[in-house]
Amino acid sequence: MEKVRLGMVGLGNMGSHHISYLNTVDGAVLSAVCDADPARTAKYGQGSVQQFSHYQQMIDSGAVDALVIATPHFQHGEICRAAFAKGIHVLCEKPLAVTIGDARATIAAHAKSPNLKFALVFQQRATHLYSKMRDLVASGDLGTITRISWFVTDWFRGWSYYASGGWRATWAGEGGGVLLNQCPHNLDLLQWIAGMMPRRITAVAFLGKTHPIETEDEASAILEFDNGAIGHFVTSTGEAPGTNRLEICGDRGKLVAEHQKLTFTRTRRCVREVREKDPAVFPAVEAWDIDIPYKSTKAEGHAVITQNFVNAILKNEPLISDGDDGVKQVELSNAILMAGITRQSIELPLDAGAYDAFLKEMTQKYGGQKKLETREAVVDMSASFSR
Ligand SMILES: NC(=O)c1ccc[n+]([C@@H]2O[C@H](COP(=O)([O-])OP(=O)(O)OC[C@H]3O[C@@H](n4cnc5c(N)ncnc54)[C@H](O)[C@@H]3O)[C@@H](O)[C@H]2O)c1
Repeated sequence: MEKVRLGMVGLGNMGSHHISYLNTVDGAVLSAVCDADPARTAKYGQGSVQQFSHYQQMIDSGAVDALVIATPHFQHGEICRAAFAKGIHVLCEKPLAVTIGDARATIAAHAKSPNLKFALVFQQRATHLYSKMRDLVASGDLGTITRISWFVTDWFRGWSYYASGGWRATWAGEGGGVLLNQCPHNLDLLQWIAGMMPRRITAVAFLGKTHPIETEDEASAILEFDNGAIGHFVTSTGEAPGTNRLEICGDRGKLVAEHQKLTFTRTRRCVREVREKDPAVFPAVEAWDIDIPYKSTKAEGHAVITQNFVNAILKNEPLISDGDDGVKQVELSNAILMAGITRQSIELPLDAGAYDAFLKEMTQKYGGQKKLETREAVVDMSASFSR
């Protein structure tokens, strides 16, 4: 195969954004587009690009080697599975699924065709800031992680955003709110940088606290890890000016990312050793603040993920983020939401049946309560795209 023939499913904000840079991706060509809205397929299905109104027709057409899926979340799993069944590679938008059960079913379907590439769009892994943080943690410079805290309340959204699509922030159409739509990137980064998943989650979450929507727009969680480390995750789409501060403590110092600055406060001695061996009643822990230069000339953004996906197909390049990463993120989003609404701690791995029952209950109790006149509009999401 000289060029990977890509089929784009879903031509709204994200699908149209992917198409906008595809001519910069080496080894890729857009060969087909698919959307439930014929006006959108007509707009992007120019020249030799074939148009389809249903993803199954596109999959069966023989016109594509790989799909890029950018529909609302509920369809991601079924479209992935239909593609794998026909030997087609998949690059899927986040989140991989609405529920952990659906995410696991997709991974199981992919396991039957492991030669197919299955990637997730977690483009923030390619940002210089977060990849540097991961390097510093993985290299052991920070020592053993003892705490990871992320205040990410700068996902501010007004009513117009929620009105811009009938599916947004509804139980039946989206299946969740800020934890499933805005936070997948942060939750993915949290476990990717820490290199571990929590084993228990306690949380509070609020449905439509600051917007006339059905699903959650605010959540605060406490994460417990097997090594004794503790995590905090605080988010909202209603707070302004928001905060975005990621703080990771280890027994060799503290790493803080805020305002596009990365500071490593490095301790001279291992904190655990000072605690255990220093005879002083109030021992001092000598430390230095170091500004970590993290910017590089490497590209960032969605195009990096798409190029990596194409390279994986053509040259077997390792994927930046794969299907298993997608499952971990869905598990974190689901567990925080369920813990936050039920006010009961949740043990991981999350029980898929229990989550399905929870989602059904949410849909029955609160479905149909979004109080916004919606319009299907393509809104400018470039601010989200750059994050
Ligand atoms: N990675 C990122 O930074 C990022 C940013 C924004 C959105 N997203 C993700 O992209 C996905 C789409 O979000 P959006 O903002 O583009 O939504 P959108 O509403 O703007 O677009 C969705 C499109 O899918 C089409 N569609 C719906 N059902 C379909 C079906 N069964 N087959 C074909 N087309 C169908 C709709 O007609 C619409 O054109 C979501 O899962 C979202 O989480 C990712």
